Amino acid sequence: MNTCFVSDLSKRLGEEVELKGWAYNFRSSGKIFFLQLRDGSGRVQIVYGKPDVSEAVWEALSSLRIESSVIVRGKVKEDARSPSGVELTGVALEIVSLAAEDYPISKKEHGPDFLLEHRHLWLRSESQWAVLHVRDCIIRATYDHLRSRGFVKFDTPILTPTACEGTTELFEMDYFDMGKGEPSAVNTDGTKAYLAQSGQLYLEAGIMSLGRAFDFGPVFRAEKSKTRRHLTEFWMMDAEAAFVEHEENMRVQEELVIEIVRRVLCECAHELRILERHVEPLQNIQAPFFRMTHAEAVAKLREMGSNIGEKDDLGADDETMLTQAFDRPIFIEKYPAEVKAFYMKRDPNDPSRALNNDLLAPEGYGEIIGGSQREDDYETLKRRIEEHHLPMSAFEWYLDLRRWGSVPHSGFGFGLERIVAWICGLHHVRETIPFPRMMNRLTP
Ligand code: 4AD
Ligand code: MG
Repeated sequence: MNTCFVSDLSKRLGEEVELKGWAYNFRSSGKIFFLQLRDGSGRVQIVYGKPDVSEAVWEALSSLRIESSVIVRGKVKEDARSPSGVELTGVALEIVSLAAEDYPISKKEHGPDFLLEHRHLWLRSESQWAVLHVRDCIIRATYDHLRSRGFVKFDTPILTPTACEGTTELFEMDYFDMGKGEPSAVNTDGTKAYLAQSGQLYLEAGIMSLGRAFDFGPVFRAEKSKTRRHLTEFWMMDAEAAFVEHEENMRVQEELVIEIVRRVLCECAHELRILERHVEPLQNIQAPFFRMTHAEAVAKLREMGSNIGEKDDLGADDETMLTQAFDRPIFIEKYPAEVKAFYMKRDPNDPSRALNNDLLAPEGYGEIIGGSQREDDYETLKRRIEEHHLPMSAFEWYLDLRRWGSVPHSGFGFGLERIVAWICGLHHVRETIPFPRMMNRLTP
């Protein structure tokens, strides 16, 4: 038979086709049966008339339950009212597996906890289907764009001997005993490992071979934050480039974000409609992004009523407040060096400041990217490791990168879920990843 996908139906007008999928919804008026079928590629209505089908088919339709898996046959015709532009006149239906009664997710409003508890089924809902598509589009756009700019995919490890970002946010696990008495990375018995918080440090080794490289994978933060922006497992893309300094690093970020938004607007218009996302704010995402220093941001926030201190990182409320006032992403650069990571290079014009930036998404979304130029001087970096009380032996390899052929270099990392939430217009990151992991959730 002529099996095809819903997404291809507009090319099959007038033909009789077979579709394989799930009964998303249905209703019957006694003589006519309206079936909403979803097949992964899209959703379409199939209209069966009782006189036009066999008794067996009508019986199968009458016994149908929501989310049963089915194979249907029908004739494709144009239908201006349907979102896909087509409808099928039903000819046949075969039930592959009759669903159990009372599918838990109905049209009525469910609370977030109920939906998360049923995440394995919730993923089938149209809004979640749309989010999954946008997420996929953002991933593809990132790969395509970075490759077009000369970045090579470089896979960084998840099991690591040390912290990359804050030591207070590390997930620790037991590792093999790698020899008693041998002082190891972090503790002396050599049996602990940590889940990676970012691939950055390893990527810095990668660019000394490849020039430009990026990683894209799950990272872990044992952050005790129950906010709409925090997950304990999330997907990060880190990009790193040799001979690139702070200014150019921000340009790379700007171009990438513009390209991601452009691709989603172009390829996911239908998905954004399903999500009822207003696209005008996304169409505004053009260069140049706004820019302010950390000092300017603090001054502005104080004007707006925040009690942020001069050396404070921006809090979640600060980010929301600041980005609600702008219709484009904002770079905030040159944070107080002492509150930032050990690897950041200092501003030669003001060594109390780091050559770093965060990129905040507009409409109240806040930080989506963190980046910086890296310290490339051996002695300075060694001193920073000491000042941060990090175990020197674990960073010998990282220091080696400054011993042999050190170059100015910079990079940044984005949190995929934060970008998906912003572009989809979702309040919370929990809907942006198939199975969210949070402080209070590890299931399903
Ligand atoms: O700002 P962060 O901590 O930067 C780094 O990890 C650097 N090593 C990246 C680099 O320079 N290569 O994290 C980067 C991004 C943040 O801007 C945010 O979008 C996201 O990762 N992120 C989180 N997303 C979800 N849940 C969390 N708990 C997150 N923590 C950070
Ligand atoms: Mg950050």
